[in-house]
Amino acid sequence: MISATAAVLRAGDEPYSVEEVTLDEPGADQVVVRVTATGFCHTDAVARAPRFAALLPLVVGHEAAGVVEWTGPEVSDVQVGDHVVLTFAHCGACSQCSDNHPAYCESFIERNLLGKLATGGATATAADGAPIGTRWFGQSTFATRAVVDARSAVVVDRDLPLDVLAPLGCGIITGAGTVMNVLDVRPGSSIAIFGVGSVGLAALLAAKAVGAESIIAVDLHPQRLELAAELGATATVLGGDDAAVVARIKELTGTGAHYGIDTTGVPGVIAAALQALRARGTCASVGLQAGDLVLGGHTISGKHLVSVVEGDADPRTFIPHLIQLWRQGKLPFDRLLERFPLAEIDKAERASLEGRAIKPVLVMD
Ligand SMILES: NC(=O)c1ccc[n+]([C@@H]2O[C@H](COP(=O)([O-])OP(=O)(O)OC[C@H]3O[C@@H](n4cnc5c(N)ncnc54)[C@H](O)[C@@H]3O)[C@@H](O)[C@H]2O)c1
Ligand SMILES: [Zn+2]
Ligand SMILES: [Zn+2]
Repeated sequence: MISATAAVLRAGDEPYSVEEVTLDEPGADQVVVRVTATGFCHTDAVARAPRFAALLPLVVGHEAAGVVEWTGPEVSDVQVGDHVVLTFAHCGACSQCSDNHPAYCESFIERNLLGKLATGGATATAADGAPIGTRWFGQSTFATRAVVDARSAVVVDRDLPLDVLAPLGCGIITGAGTVMNVLDVRPGSSIAIFGVGSVGLAALLAAKAVGAESIIAVDLHPQRLELAAELGATATVLGGDDAAVVARIKELTGTGAHYGIDTTGVPGVIAAALQALRARGTCASVGLQAGDLVLGGHTISGKHLVSVVEGDADPRTFIPHLIQLWRQGKLPFDRLLERFPLAEIDKAERASLEGRAIKPVLVMD
């Protein structure tokens, strides 16, 4: 029997309920992981939204790191005792996975965003025997243990601090991957980042690491802009008035930025991010879009808009690459973290949503 202490989301408008659960037995291609730390991503809070597809009650959490306790008979590349970073689920066999784009897996939505669907693999039961979904991003790791597909576990060196590595599984690969894999930001170029929470700041660190010359951070929270400046933003702009933000970015860059990233999901901000580009510039839309996007006449200058999932990363190669940059001091994403015990998950969520903590990391002990 695989038992775990888990923060269960029972209703969208209720606090988390920290309780004992029993995880179903793992499959032959899965591993059991003792979770030591899990980052809080804005997408975890999205599971609360009534319009969203996630099926409650559910354990969310999808940026974990921990130690492998058990491996299924078909698992060959992960061993008991390995330290692992867990990332999103993917099938490993469809056309997108075969083409090395697992974030666009044809079954990404079922495997990651429903939390409960029986695509094979584990779910769990509460103390009263009622079912609880534990397939959120294939991991559900606001919990002390998780059953995950072996292909979602990235083995890391044992000398590394697991609480620092945890957010690599989603937020950091999303921001950094958007800059490095999708936009392919060039040295000497300019980039405007709308929303400098965890994804936006990961993008900012990556933009700095690849040598962008002008990095403009936009947010509604002055304290987030201050941190952005400390981490390498060359200019900061207080958001809220989209037209004024666009005008300021044009002023700072001459004819507009080469690249833009939206992490706010606000349709008007995505349109502003496009408007703030120079001709042939590219804007990456990363935030979960809340409503229809209305494009104005500014779309006539060869601009590109691309939506990005998980930084289009292949986690097995990209996470080790980012760890190497971190070891070299070139991607100090540890600056984004703030630790909370699992029992204080509601406090961690509030701190993130109110803009006080950039990347809360829940530590299980
Ligand atoms: N595409 C993906 O694969 C992927 C992965 C991770 C997260 N996400 C999504 O990305 C988004 C960002 O995630 P996060 O964890 O960084 O969230 P976050 O809450 O830490 O950051 C969002 C930031 O946007 C700012 N913002 C909101 N409205 C704004 C406006 N009008 N102008 C300027 N700034 C504004 C907020 O103040 C906040 O700092 C969320 O929607 C999340 O669900 C997507
Ligand atoms: Zn696939
Ligand atoms: Zn996420």
